[in-house]
Amino acid sequence: QKDGFRFFMEKEIYEQSDVVVDCMLGRLSDDEILFDEIDKSLIKGINEIKICACGTSYHSGLTASYLFERLSKVKCNVEIASEFRYKEPLLTKDTLFIVISQSGETADTLEALKMAKAAGLKSLVICNVDNSSMTRTADATILTRAGIEKGVASTKAFTTQTVVLWMLALYFGKAKNVLGSDKLQSELHALREVPKSLIIDDSMHEKTKRLSKRYLHGHGFFFIGRDVFFPLALEGALKLKEISYLHAEGYPAGEMKHGPIALADPELFTIALMPQNLLYDKIKSNVEELSARDSTICSISPLDFDLSDDFIKINETDHYMLEFFEMLIALQLLSMEISVRLGNDVDMPRNLAKSVTVE
Ligand code: M6R
Repeated sequence: QKDGFRFFMEKEIYEQSDVVVDCMLGRLSDDEILFDEIDKSLIKGINEIKICACGTSYHSGLTASYLFERLSKVKCNVEIASEFRYKEPLLTKDTLFIVISQSGETADTLEALKMAKAAGLKSLVICNVDNSSMTRTADATILTRAGIEKGVASTKAFTTQTVVLWMLALYFGKAKNVLGSDKLQSELHALREVPKSLIIDDSMHEKTKRLSKRYLHGHGFFFIGRDVFFPLALEGALKLKEISYLHAEGYPAGEMKHGPIALADPELFTIALMPQNLLYDKIKSNVEELSARDSTICSISPLDFDLSDDFIKINETDHYMLEFFEMLIALQLLSMEISVRLGNDVDMPRNLAKSVTVE
């Protein structure tokens, strides 16, 4: 069943290019995004989007908040479901409530969905499992079509969620008439390139294997990025934590100087997400500050950066979301290879379950 791969996680990392094709099938035409599963009435009168999710699904939601505001010009905020449930949230009926879940069974996310429904909000679930508790509860469902995900560490579920959310942001943008046709065309062009960006280059995999030899000795890791690369940094840190048991934090790069930079020393590994197409100069100066304080820097970027101690090269593209997916692969491989070297159970890390059905 592992089809020659060492672990389900490895198989699932390698499957991402293909599952994304399934995910986009029939949803991407020459000049628009099609979601047959959404009735136009679902978005009529909607002025705000609220997203609720847990873990990796929360990270795809956070990524989407940048895309919804940028591409659909809709106010969007994202909450961790277990926080949302008990904060006595103020909900207004012009808000579309979106929950994201691989399993469709996560207790906190399901309860958040029920709360929103009880408050009279329209709801949508982005889910990988049809006929799950969440798909039965929400007003509408968009399936991610990632196929069964066995590794506890989520990989292809995150990728397909992010693709669906990006498409949804464009769908909204078009419906609200806020996207010019040139902009829409260039976004659709980039979406069509996603499967290519997820094809794994042998040299990248080899590089992560080589780095894992040294990185398993890291005393702590900061994953840093800006904009959508901040949620990606959170996701990279979560992957490393859950399967390698090393301490890792994801941080918005611009926040480092507000405290965490005090930790910088050669044993602190900084994984810097440095896209060419979005805020490159800003992140560069954040990384320079860390380098000046002797943190060991590994940059993931299409551009070699002279202050990096290590460098994982991604392909040059013309859209930041394509860089996002290329970096995601590098992050997934790096955490998997560190876990392998530490002799951990990659597919079934300690203390974790695939689906968290208790609060
Ligand atoms: O099934 P869900 O997407 O609702 O699960 C949410 C989290 O439990 C899940 O993403 C968890 O964080 C993963 N193990 C991360 O790899």
